[in-house]
This record gives sequence, C-alpha cells and structure tokens, in this order.
Amino acid sequence: MPNNKLFDWMAPLYDKVIGSRDPDLFIELLDLPIEGKLLDAGGGTGRVSLALKEHVGQLFISDLSRSMILEAKIKGHDKLVQTSVTENPFPSDHFERIMVVDALHHFPDQKGTIKELIRILKPGGKLVIEEPDIKLFAVKLVALAEKLALMGSHIHSPKEIKAMVEANGLEAKIISDGNFASYIIAEK
Ligand SMILES: C[S@@+](CC[C@H](N)C(=O)[O-])C[C@H]1O[C@@H](n2cnc3c(N)ncnc32)[C@H](O)[C@@H]1O
Repeated sequence: MPNNKLFDWMAPLYDKVIGSRDPDLFIELLDLPIEGKLLDAGGGTGRVSLALKEHVGQLFISDLSRSMILEAKIKGHDKLVQTSVTENPFPSDHFERIMVVDALHHFPDQKGTIKELIRILKPGGKLVIEEPDIKLFAVKLVALAEKLALMGSHIHSPKEIKAMVEANGLEAKIISDGNFASYIIAEK
C-alpha cells in the first residue's frame, strides 16, 4: 500500500495510538518563540506542532495524506497544505523554522527532501529533524515491523542524516534524547 494510503487509513486513530508530545523540547530545539513562520513537514494531524502554534507567528502543516491533514483541520487548524514534501509549493527562503518529526524515513527520496527543505528555509533559519535512532534495538524492531508491513520506510542513522544535511553546505549537529529518538539540527 503506498504510504499516503496507509496514513489515510490510520489518520482517525493516529493521535490516540501514538500519543501526545511535550512541546517544551521542541520550543527549545527550534529556538521559539519567533514572529516568523514554522513549517511542520510531514506534520500529519499536527499532533506535535499544534502545541507550538502560540509560539510562532504562523504555523503551516504539510502532508501527503489528505486524511491526516483533515484531522488537523478538525482540530481547528487552517494553514494546511496537502503536498509531497519534495514537490511543495513554497517559494525559496520562506520559513524561519522547519521541523520534521518521525516522518523522514517515510519519504521516498530523503536526500531530495532535505535539499528541498533547505531551499525553502530562510537564511539564518533552523531545521530540526527528529528520527528514531536506528542504533537502538527497539528501533531496529520498529524498522523490521515497518518492512514486514511493506510501508516502504527506511530509517537512516543520525550520522547519515547529518551527512545528507551537510551535503547542502550547512553544518549540522546531532542531539540524542537517550531514549528512542535523535535530533539533527542545522542552521542555514
Ligand atoms: C509517522 S507520521 C508522522 C506525522 C507527524 N510528524 C507526527 O509526528 O505526528 C509520517 C507522516 O509523513 C507523511 N508522509 C509520508 N510520505 C510523505 C511525502 N512524500 N510527503 C509528505 N508527507 C509524507 C504521512 O502521510 C504521515 O502523516
């Protein structure tokens, strides 16, 4: 099943199954508050970023899945864009902040995605990518389960993602939460 169809199917249950997130970590990693624009790319139902809305001038959520976007709309959000992350409609140098949470490994062209996100990030803007850390056994099991479910996902290591970001001329750093996820952070 193409992964947008799978997420279309999962959308109504997604937040309940996956659970909520503490916004404080993202406020810190994204250097909020800001008056400018934050894009949550592959942001799904807005599970993570909707709690950041009051800390930014404007919050945009983009996602390929119509049903995931619809869930964010039901929660009352309006700056929603249904698009593939590599073919998004935004101009260059547009967003002060871009976040990608638990989604990069679902994108078919991860190098192309990162290049595209850097294109639409403003100079001086910040990109934060959260990915499950494939070095951890629990994450290897998740990766295996996603393969068996034919989700077409591929989890790269934090170092590989850092290299993908740095291939675009940015310096990136890795922060680990010591638990399940790593954060690759770069300034344009
Ligand atoms: C695991 S969910 C994470 C959603 C959200 N970031 C969160 O943490 O709640 C991955 C999301 O990526 C979206 N997605 C998958 N492939 C995509 C693509 N090529 N372009 C944009 N979004 C995509 C899916 O529709 C889904 O909403």
